[in-house]
Amino acid sequence: MSIISKDIQKAIELLSNDKLVAIPTETVYGLAGNIFSEKAIKSIFSTKKRPFFNPLIVHIPSVDSLKDIVINVPEKAQLLANAFWPGSMTMVLKKNEKIPDLITAGKDTVAVRVPNHPVTLSLLKQLPFPLAAPSANPFGSISPTKPEHVERYFKNDIQQVLDGGACTNGIESTIIGFENDEPIIYRLGALALEDIEAVVGKISIKNKKEESPDAPGMLARHYAPSTKTFLVDDISTEIKNHLDKKIGVLPFKNSLKDASLTEIILSKKGSMHEAASKLYDALHELDHLNLDVIIAERFPDNGLGKSINDRLQRATFSL
Ligand code: TXA
Ligand code: MG
Repeated sequence: MSIISKDIQKAIELLSNDKLVAIPTETVYGLAGNIFSEKAIKSIFSTKKRPFFNPLIVHIPSVDSLKDIVINVPEKAQLLANAFWPGSMTMVLKKNEKIPDLITAGKDTVAVRVPNHPVTLSLLKQLPFPLAAPSANPFGSISPTKPEHVERYFKNDIQQVLDGGACTNGIESTIIGFENDEPIIYRLGALALEDIEAVVGKISIKNKKEESPDAPGMLARHYAPSTKTFLVDDISTEIKNHLDKKIGVLPFKNSLKDASLTEIILSKKGSMHEAASKLYDALHELDHLNLDVIIAERFPDNGLGKSINDRLQRATFSL
């Protein structure tokens, strides 16, 4: 029997009894548990096989609930919250004493966001506690953007994927930390850099692990398919390096018009938003076809293209 269901009451009951539920958000599906249940939080880490040093994002129902989680909201953090929540932005702020160390990997900061999905907002409003939720994939694999992706990963581990359809943004939230009350990008994501800069001015990026000891989750290999993946400016040139191989290609908008290839075009109309929303589903699909290689086309280095390139770059690392 499928574990995918729209039953919010069932989700409330499971979450209130220290169990996990996969929840829809506009970015990716999350593997959620009560932040105050040690049992639930431990099972998030064990189900994902995620190391304990990698802290979790706390999901809250409204901007107003931020005061229950953190001790200090810098002026620019308040501006950003008002501008983008509910939405695909996570902020890392000083935590209060109620937030368990297990959530934050012992750090004095906590990552928090208000997701923009009607089903999960309704769930969060009905629960008396916030939800910790990392992306609902085993550590290091591709994040899920459809309920079926989560079911494939965790059907033997959890009792419910709360069905909210396909994620409309399709890549993880943009993470913003604060140093001396000034915002810094820790992870590029579904909210474009330019949109953030329109609210708080020029902002720097510390998106690589070496530069960002504060974002321990930024491992070089992440979001990765098990098929060897390449990211290139020109797919047709790269194909020549893989003759006699079964090749999957992932162009942005233009078909290669070559019937010997398995091709998924991310956005025929050239929309980066559409491309982002389809990216992980395309990688899931290509990864299940027993191909020898996947060749992806690099996006223009602006707007969501920057975030898509970041994810594709991480997908190219092999273990
Ligand atoms: O879109 C998203 O953000 C999704 C949905 C479910 O909300 N969640 C998600 O969670 O992508 P996860 O666990 O896969 O990624 C969270 C990232 C990790 O890289 C983690 O290291 C970082 O957030 N993080 C969490 N708490 C942090 C903290 N206190 N300081 C710095 N980085 C933190
Ligand atoms: Mg993740």
